[in-house]
Amino acid sequence: MANEKYKIIDGHKHILYSDYLKVKNIEEKSESFFQEMDWRRSVRDFSDKPVPKSVIENIIKTASTAPSGAHKQPWFFCVIESAELKSQIRKAAEEEERKSYEGRMSKEWLNDLKPLGTNHSKPFLEIAPYLIIVFKKPYDLSKEEEKLQNYYVNESVGIACGMLITAIHQAGLVTLTHTPSPMNFLTKLLERPSNERAFLLLPVGYPVTEAYVPDIERKNLDEVSKFYSK
Ligand SMILES: Cc1cc2nc3c(=O)[nH]c(=O)nc-3n(C[C@H](O)[C@H](O)[C@H](O)COP(=O)(O)O)c2cc1C
Repeated sequence: MANEKYKIIDGHKHILYSDYLKVKNIEEKSESFFQEMDWRRSVRDFSDKPVPKSVIENIIKTASTAPSGAHKQPWFFCVIESAELKSQIRKAAEEEERKSYEGRMSKEWLNDLKPLGTNHSKPFLEIAPYLIIVFKKPYDLSKEEEKLQNYYVNESVGIACGMLITAIHQAGLVTLTHTPSPMNFLTKLLERPSNERAFLLLPVGYPVTEAYVPDIERKNLDEVSKFYSK
């Protein structure tokens, strides 16, 4: 029978999806979404203006709708509001960043970073109302501490982070993709289980009233794509 709400395929329930696809004006919609996303920038100067917790919850729920290898959802989001923890994270991150800027990064890397005006100092880690630390899970642990394999973990968690950043921007907030490497100090500070690895650290909040960002150019469509039409 056509238009059944669900079907059993190989013993597993499949729901009718086309019901959800009701978008009209796809040209307009895709253009306006691009315009909106083109405004997204990484911001390094945060205000301490509070953000409702429910907004952070919605942002994480959005990220967690991401596709993942074999639907394993190999991610975990730690949300830091505690001033004490933020201060410990800042101290540890700045220590790692100092070592990176003073010896671990190549000359070429440091040169590439110059236009961005970054250095080891990370005051936003204490100022932003929330820090979201994303962890990836190379494997899950059963109740009996048995390892359960996850698949395409970096790809899956990377996509979830892209959706997280998109949701933050869409909510009218800003973030910075921060990687104070190596990031294992976060596993210890946040007392995460042995199957989790810190993936990205994202401060979330409002920018200061006069926030400046580097004047960078994005590659155009021709530089990032090729259409094979024939
Ligand atoms: C994986 C990744 C790691 C990054 N790590 C840092 C970082 O540790 N510190 C920082 O200031 N910016 C970091 N950035 C932000 C980039 O510098 C920024 O995205 C880039 O300059 C483009 O600017 P935009 O995000 O405003 O478009 C990182 C971005 C990505 C995607």
